[in-house]
Amino acid sequence: MLKKSILYDYNNVLADKLDSPISITLEEIESYKDKAIEIHKTLTARRKKGELPFYNLPYQKQELDRIKKLGDTITKEMGERFENLLVIGIGGSSLGGIALIKALTHPFYNLLPNADRKTPRVFYAENIDADEIKGLFDILDPEKTVVNIISKSGTTAEPMANFLLFQKYMTEKIGEENFKKQVVATTDPKKGTMRQIVTDFGFRTLNIPEGVGGRFSVLTPVGLFPGYLAGIDLDALLEGAAFMDELTKTDDLLKNPAYINAVIHYHLHVHRGVNNAVLMPYSVALSLISDWYRQLLAESLGKKWALTGEVVYAGQTPIKAVGAIDQHSQVQLYREGPFDKIFTILSVENLNNFLNLPSLYEKYEGLSYLGGHTINELFNAEKKATILALTKSGRPSIEITLPEINPHTIGQVFYLYEVQTVFAGYLYNINSLDQPGVEAGKQYTYGMLGRKGFEDMKKEADSFPAKDEKFIIKG
Ligand code: PA5
Repeated sequence: MLKKSILYDYNNVLADKLDSPISITLEEIESYKDKAIEIHKTLTARRKKGELPFYNLPYQKQELDRIKKLGDTITKEMGERFENLLVIGIGGSSLGGIALIKALTHPFYNLLPNADRKTPRVFYAENIDADEIKGLFDILDPEKTVVNIISKSGTTAEPMANFLLFQKYMTEKIGEENFKKQVVATTDPKKGTMRQIVTDFGFRTLNIPEGVGGRFSVLTPVGLFPGYLAGIDLDALLEGAAFMDELTKTDDLLKNPAYINAVIHYHLHVHRGVNNAVLMPYSVALSLISDWYRQLLAESLGKKWALTGEVVYAGQTPIKAVGAIDQHSQVQLYREGPFDKIFTILSVENLNNFLNLPSLYEKYEGLSYLGGHTINELFNAEKKATILALTKSGRPSIEITLPEINPHTIGQVFYLYEVQTVFAGYLYNINSLDQPGVEAGKQYTYGMLGRKGFEDMKKEADSFPAKDEKFIIKG
């Protein structure tokens, strides 16, 4: 495995390289040098006090051992029967794990024959869609399925509803005792409903460290346990995160990729009206990192209130795109639409496979040029062409290049974005670690379904003005 640094390249946002109303000068970036030193001091102090425990995740030897031990025990107990891992969770409890597994397993992992895969298939139940859940009942044999319920609070309606359904379904088929043996609950070490359930029912459990919010939890058992069962090298993953920790420990803005990326995004947002941040991986394996990134950015930086109490309505809108697919869907808008986006092109120097394009249609000029090249060359050329085209039309872009896709480089990417996000929180002067905007929807739902203590929310929901029929069109 190549344990090399990922590359962070910000050439194409700079005013002397990008002819654009939304470029940034090096002087503008440098004007944040002192601010970066000040924020760095605050972050370092908070880290020392244990207020930002996500920083310590690359070094959690004990928890890592627990994950491996539990994974090995369950694998041994299940033996040949271990066909499926079903992870139940949502938001911060699912997106990181899904991105991790997509990045570091075979592209059609679940479809590989058992003999080639050697580790269980992995399914995620995130949504509360009866059709999907029934679909999972159809394909997951309870005898052969381990359930990993992940909920820090244990009160989030979606995972808990899905857990209820699977508990009933599986218990009816294999009995309570066997079900219990086939459950691992990943939750808060002390607080919350899930912790109480674990204690009362005796499920096996893994801890989400206190103070690590869902969207910062991919390097906790939330992502690591499913990752381990899917055969991912966790040591290399955490080593990669630790490598990025070292790289982002400097207060020198121009040497710190997390800080400089935060500054560029922040400055273009606040001073140039660049309201959107597009993450566009040129790699199928990296494509779901964009889903994780969307939550990280949106929930962390999308805030109404500043730390000082005034209304700020902060935050760029994160947008997911995938190269080369979105060249045929979004790039028209990206090049000719409003000047309101910054792009990050996430790409890979060397994919794990090379495929030669055969020369089958030599006499057809429109096609013959492909023969003799590799499909990798084509992918690379398309990425470069998109960056060129974006630059030519004055659209700022950052390039992050992984030397190859492996646990070490993926660990770097996760950690880079987490540090960037907390740093950006200070640029916006908002709390990047809470998510009060998510709560209202949760509470209305509790009220509508009659949860005790949420009667007022029900009343409010019931008294919402009725829909005016004249604005509803039907055939
Ligand atoms: O980032 C967050 O805090 C949220 O997206 C939560 O992760 C999500 O709501 C799930 O919460 P829980 O793990 O408590 O079920």
